[in-house]
Amino acid sequence: FILLVWVVPGVAATLVSARADDARILQTARAVFGRVPAQAEEIPNNPTSKDKVALGKMLFFDPRLSKGGTLSCNSCHNLAMGGDDNLPTSVGHGWQKGPRNAPTVLNAVFNVAQFWDGRAEDLKTQAKGPVQAGVEMASTPERVESVLKSIPEYAERFGRAFPGEDSPVTFDNMARAIESFEATLITPDAPFDRYLGGDEAALDANQKAGLRLFVTKGCIACHSGVNIGGRSYHPFGVLKKPTADILPAGDTGRFALTNTEADHYVFRAAPLRNVALTAPYFHSGQIWTLEEAVKIMSDSQLGGVLDENEVAQVAAFLRSLTGKLPEVTLPELPAETAETPRPQP
Ligand code: HEM
Ligand code: HEM
Repeated sequence: FILLVWVVPGVAATLVSARADDARILQTARAVFGRVPAQAEEIPNNPTSKDKVALGKMLFFDPRLSKGGTLSCNSCHNLAMGGDDNLPTSVGHGWQKGPRNAPTVLNAVFNVAQFWDGRAEDLKTQAKGPVQAGVEMASTPERVESVLKSIPEYAERFGRAFPGEDSPVTFDNMARAIESFEATLITPDAPFDRYLGGDEAALDANQKAGLRLFVTKGCIACHSGVNIGGRSYHPFGVLKKPTADILPAGDTGRFALTNTEADHYVFRAAPLRNVALTAPYFHSGQIWTLEEAVKIMSDSQLGGVLDENEVAQVAAFLRSLTGKLPEVTLPELPAETAETPRPQP
């Protein structure tokens, strides 16, 4: 009995202070992150419409945008698999292996810029990249336009998606339609969003501990905003350089764009929404578990601030970032015609 009297108030006091601590962390989290909205905002310079989104979905799934007729956006950004390909680095035209891991298209609309190095300012600029990249879809704007013009249903749908334009079937409009579709690929209602919204039971004790570590140990210095990342650039290896398999010497990140010494091995802080679905990790795609990825971040960016148990708690928190995947029905693609350019090796 004596023991009980002595212990119970102690436990109660600890519980009360843990709750106060949770409340403080929640307050910080609300200021630093943000909930994924139910609907994406309007994109500047690309007003959306039902017709445009429907066309963009067709284009996203159409392998005829690739020279070989085999690869669509969905090949590498598989919407049934978290919006990526779950490969270390993507396989493109003629089975060529690209240099980088494919990031997810889910919530990409919330990133300040696209690609691991942020070299595309928005999704419509981005979409023109893979279609032309030799190691991806290997096509050309001219080829894409002749494919689309040769299929009457596409010509008609471009007309509806871009009303008032004289010749709406253009490479540029392809990218605009895809961007409109991608803006719908958002994943609201993750346990973490519900927690931010006030549902205390949405995270378990481990996940709350992980969130506290994420906030107090410094991860938020780089991973902030709605996407928990995706909006600032940092050297990969601030305090300790990762090994060469994880940070291959040949990929210098933003240095390749800016030629500025300070940009050597600088990459965009990866967005962490749905990160549980998008292994393998980092731009080199060599790390298959979240625990390993968290440990590498703790060591390379923050000097080893997390012990093993804490790594597991942070990984548990990151698993609470998996949201409700958009429901995407497969579009019906119109058949090619006698005029459609044939697939080429
Ligand atoms: C990057 C969309 C086709 C592989 C991206 C990103 C987006 C995207 C939005 C940037 C995401 C981010 O930075 O967080 C598209 C669209 C495609 C397409 C709309 C069709 C037009 C492909 C294909 C492949 C591929 C076919 C594979 C062969 C990659 C890779 C990256 C990437 C490896 C990262 C490249 C880098 O950072 O340098 N894609 N993608 N994509 N995609 Fe695609
Ligand atoms: C990537 C978590 C701290 C900058 C990542 C990834 C994870 C992660 C899981 C891989 C995501 C993916 O491949 O999809 C964490 C955690 C941190 C932390 C748990 C705290 C312990 C930081 C800090 C910075 C930073 C402090 C900036 C100084 C980056 C960058 C990448 C990244 C630049 C992309 C690396 C690449 O090029 O592959 N982070 N991070 N992170 N993080 Fe962190």
